[in-house]
Amino acid sequence: MGILMLRNDEELGRITSVCLVPGSYDPITRGHVDIVRRASELFGEVVVAILRNPDKPGWLGWDKREALAKAALDGMPGVRVEHFEGLAVDCAREFGARVIVRGLRSAQDYEYESAMARANQDVSGAGASPGTVETVFLVAEASLAHWSSSAARQLAAFGGPLELVVPDKALELLTRYMADTRRSAGGRDVNGN
Ligand code: PNS
Repeated sequence: MGILMLRNDEELGRITSVCLVPGSYDPITRGHVDIVRRASELFGEVVVAILRNPDKPGWLGWDKREALAKAALDGMPGVRVEHFEGLAVDCAREFGARVIVRGLRSAQDYEYESAMARANQDVSGAGASPGTVETVFLVAEASLAHWSSSAARQLAAFGGPLELVVPDKALELLTRYMADTRRSAGGRDVNGN
């Protein structure tokens, strides 16, 4: 039997690098928090990157999404929240990440996510350093798999129980943003626009 030398991170079963957990986070959900927590057990550093999804119109502004994500993830070791205007692979490069982590809730998610992962391989593999950005999928916890940011937006629009979807630590802040909006005149949106 050979002698196996293990580095500290390997002994811990952790992949020694930075990962990016990109998303619209509009708003952050309990499901997002669970994926970020699990990513933080695998990677030394987790960058939660708030990016623009050109297919979605957007509900909250960047500053509010960022504040909610920071509140929800407060105290989670090795986790930071950033926002970035551009491609996910450029964001990965900016923060030194070779790996993108995404949650998978369903077969439908897989269809969409596998195409995006392949696109990101192609775009990042086109000669740029540090090389191809790979995607790792974490399967969503069953009790959270039916919730999404879009469900949160619908509950917010019609006065439903937001606490089912929005993490406890972010709930008060989101409720305040919504109350401020209601107080402001002329049917403004949650961004005060
Ligand atoms: O939370 P979402 O909306 O599912 O997140 C999707 C997101 C923001 C990660 C995705 O739209 C994205 O990566 N946007 C930046 C543009 C990009 O890099 N697209 C993929 C290459 S085609």
